[in-house]
Amino acid sequence: MSIVISKKCESLHGQARIPGDKSISHRALMFGALTIGETMISGLLEGEDVLHTAEAMRGLGAKIEKSADGLWRTWGVGIGGLREPDNPLEMGNSGTSTRLLIGLVGGHNIKATFTGDASLSGRPMKRVITPLEMMGANFEATDDDKLPLTVTGPDDLLAIEYETPVASAQVKSAILLAGLNARGTTTVIESKPTRDHTEKMLQHFGVEVTTKELEGGRYAIALVGQQELQPGAIDVPGDPSSAAFPAVAALLHEGSEITLPNIAVSDRRNGIYITLREMGADITFENERIQAGEAVADIIVKNSGPLKGIDVDPARVPSMIDEFPILAMAAACANGTTKMTGIAELRVKESDRLLMVAEGLKACGVELEMGEDWLTIHSNGKAPKGGTTVKTALDHRIAMSFLVLGTATDEPISIDDGEPIKTSFPNFITLMNELGCNISED
Ligand code: S3P
Repeated sequence: MSIVISKKCESLHGQARIPGDKSISHRALMFGALTIGETMISGLLEGEDVLHTAEAMRGLGAKIEKSADGLWRTWGVGIGGLREPDNPLEMGNSGTSTRLLIGLVGGHNIKATFTGDASLSGRPMKRVITPLEMMGANFEATDDDKLPLTVTGPDDLLAIEYETPVASAQVKSAILLAGLNARGTTTVIESKPTRDHTEKMLQHFGVEVTTKELEGGRYAIALVGQQELQPGAIDVPGDPSSAAFPAVAALLHEGSEITLPNIAVSDRRNGIYITLREMGADITFENERIQAGEAVADIIVKNSGPLKGIDVDPARVPSMIDEFPILAMAAACANGTTKMTGIAELRVKESDRLLMVAEGLKACGVELEMGEDWLTIHSNGKAPKGGTTVKTALDHRIAMSFLVLGTATDEPISIDDGEPIKTSFPNFITLMNELGCNISED
């Protein structure tokens, strides 16, 4: 446990290089390990979550190394080539590593046990167990289908068509990854489009993946199994979820202007920026380009006065699912009321984020109401009082969100544990301070 304190600062200025996108980094290591040959990865996020993926892929037989030039290289084992690990796969705090790798192991005729920290061991796994059982995988798990669990892939994997009951890129990806080793076509139907890094990166590695829009705004994503992945190179762009922390900090301080180069900004990930613009923020995307199939841009954030409260479009939730904690901090300083609805999934993230945000904000003096799947925040265009220590419950995004709020409150905000920040944004404190913040470990 390390207490971190954030004190009020002046405006933010400069350029900040945000670490690599977490979702893309996990997939680069996993998919590189499924090719036959060498894949070179630049810009990989070296956060704890991604390092857990690297270690697990080594346990499953791939060779993964970081070279002196800072690049990561994988030497894959090919689809169907994973070997049974000697030891349990320790996933730490990482839901993405766990769910995607359960899919990968469940699609191979091997057995592996997954373990994790207290936060991960409380998260639902039934959502991946159900479709993988349909494909023939076998699970030994606790009664409530949580970690630790053991999965054994079948001799003969069945390709399935599956409609996901929750909008989840992790569930979609777990099924597609299992389907890579099945005979025939595996199809996932999602009712709301979620992040599509799996589809894009598989295509980048030469796998044919099709996405078809169905009636009612649903999407069918399909792949034929047992295609070979061709090794290649991946340049991981900056993480838009991490970039949202300095972006909101800049929006809370008059006179701020910051540049965040090389950020992933596809329409499956940019919901926070669209929402902040609706709140009146001056945010522009420059040098828009495509990199390994992903839309990338430099993000310029300028403060142009207080934000205003809005009703956040619930259709946008999947494209900003990880950004509600930081949006809530912006809302706590905005003029008027901000309503967020359709956000029940926040309750099963690294923590119950709805509850942690609501409790933390209340302790900072914010007026709000919360329901099972909604949160309404009232403010008058000024930052709340602050002056409290917020509980973070092993949740990196709760930790970073309240440290951002503390840059604007009259009294400092502390968080009870800064350790989880290392899972996704190891240089967060240094980077924020270089832009002008005053954040320090106690
Ligand atoms: C992720 C998908 C999302 C997101 C998580 C990363 C991914 O989870 O919250 O941080 O990389 O696929 P869900 O699929 O559970 O919504």
